[in-house]
Amino acid sequence: MCGIVGYTGPRPAAPLLLDGLKRLEYRGYDSAGIALVADGRIEVHKAPGKISVLEKELGTSLPPGHTGIAHTRWATHGAPNMVNAHPHTDCGGTLALAHNGIIENAGPLRAALAKRGHVFRSETDTEVLAHLIEERLAAGGALLAAVAGALQQLEGTYGIAVVSTREPDTIIAARHGSPLLVAIGAGENFVASDASAVLAHTRSVVYMDDGEIAVVRPTDYRIVDLDTVEKEKTITRVDWDLATIERGGFAHFMLKEIMEQPESLRNTLRGRLLEEDGTAKLGGLNIEDAELLQVNRIVFTACGTSWHSALIGEYMMEELARIPSEVEYASEFRYRNPIVDDRTLVVGISQSGETADTLAALREAKRRGARTLGLVNVVGSTIAREVDGASTKAFTSQIAALALLTLKMGRLRALSILQGREVVRALGRLPELVARVLTRAPEVERIGERMMRAGNVLYLGRGYNFPVALEGALKLKEISYVHAEGYPAAEMKHGPIALIDDLMPVVFIAPKDAVYQKVVSNVEEVKARGGRVIAVVTEGDTGLAKLADQKIEVPETLDFLTPVLTVLPLQLLAYYMAVRRGCNVDQPRNLAKSVTVE
Ligand code: AGP
Repeated sequence: MCGIVGYTGPRPAAPLLLDGLKRLEYRGYDSAGIALVADGRIEVHKAPGKISVLEKELGTSLPPGHTGIAHTRWATHGAPNMVNAHPHTDCGGTLALAHNGIIENAGPLRAALAKRGHVFRSETDTEVLAHLIEERLAAGGALLAAVAGALQQLEGTYGIAVVSTREPDTIIAARHGSPLLVAIGAGENFVASDASAVLAHTRSVVYMDDGEIAVVRPTDYRIVDLDTVEKEKTITRVDWDLATIERGGFAHFMLKEIMEQPESLRNTLRGRLLEEDGTAKLGGLNIEDAELLQVNRIVFTACGTSWHSALIGEYMMEELARIPSEVEYASEFRYRNPIVDDRTLVVGISQSGETADTLAALREAKRRGARTLGLVNVVGSTIAREVDGASTKAFTSQIAALALLTLKMGRLRALSILQGREVVRALGRLPELVARVLTRAPEVERIGERMMRAGNVLYLGRGYNFPVALEGALKLKEISYVHAEGYPAAEMKHGPIALIDDLMPVVFIAPKDAVYQKVVSNVEEVKARGGRVIAVVTEGDTGLAKLADQKIEVPETLDFLTPVLTVLPLQLLAYYMAVRRGCNVDQPRNLAKSVTVE
């Protein structure tokens, strides 16, 4: 994800900016750059890949300057390369701008600016803003007024930092939808998208709110609104220790990741929903609609959690796009003699983009002439580079990305525009619903406390929530070392029912969807045998709530999107049980972040 750091003060800015960028590295990015103001001009350096590549290019003589901005980019508009990396400059090269977020009306603004003679160098939405500010400066405006005026022309989201030769020791920062703060030092000040970038230098920060602009100089700063009217802000003292800072204030990275899901979902969906046409725009797809129409079968291949997402993808694709689909463990697919041809789309799903089995399965599919698509978290990972197209993220984001792909494929086939619009609206609401479920964490914690001594847990779900049962069980196994099984709820009576007694907690994933009544019958079967039921239900469901010993509510959404909500209590349950059992949740035994061996 993109990151911003800015510095103005007496010290050379470049080393501070590079250090700040490194502290934001954990967010993931694909290119980096810095811009410094010195001797009446702006010097910009950018490089694709890691910050170390940028450092190598800069060599030992870092660019001079006591005021500057820096950025790590996570590509949305335009490929991750040097030209598209931030900061971006205007035609005259007298201002530089770093931006997080998406400018939704960049297309028309760009066309109008080009007509007025502006020359664009990159494919980014961001560059538009540099030229808009340039125009206003040329018309005689002061820097703050020029930035404020330009921002009022934008639709979309932004966190920005701007430097200009006009006011060489000033950084203008502004926020609308993308986090930004001003950090106050002694005779020096910073701006940053995340406190961890600057907390080595100061603990005093002013968190900016949407619609605010900061004018930051070495010895002072002020915050104004878009009409440049002064605003009163409070300074927050950040007292976290360094390890906690890196965890964003959470007790563990795992909890941080769980809690960041509204944001990661927003990032997955940003700029990809086309409400008017009721469809999705998948920038990295690199496969023409005509070719997508040729696809007559989809094979999803993945491992672990990503395999669970794949199962949900299969169900979605068959129900909404009516394309025959199947799911294969990548480790099995690669050594079978799979039947694929040029009309088969093989979709490899991988958070790391480096999983050896998934990579090998995709290579095998490609060798046999299939079209390949990677759904990966890490831009620039091996899988992302080798497939015909690539997109993003872990379980909830993978499901959202699969929904986008299904929507796109569906709209080319069976889905009407009205159905498409309904899906677009439901997807758009998801981040907010996810945030709502996460506020229930204390309830889940209490349930986790009661379950902490269980030696076995059974997870049951049907339809779209059968893979969620598998995922809930996997999470519990992985981090709390409690044996758990996920099963299709109705299959329970074909064997696992023998395990049920009052010592075995049974977690039912039972939102009000098409198979809800069927799941209720399965709950009855467990209760009849003395089982203890914990149910994930839809808000306001009184029926199941009465039957279950404990319940956790999630809001209503379309059936195929329920997994994005129902998996959250299960992630939290695994987390709290593991913490209670004294397990090291951030470094579970025997597990690797990316499994690059067979
Ligand atoms: C997830 O919690 C697991 N550690 C594991 O199952 C993982 O999903 C699997 O190894 C696949 O990884 P990938 O998504 O990076 O390819």
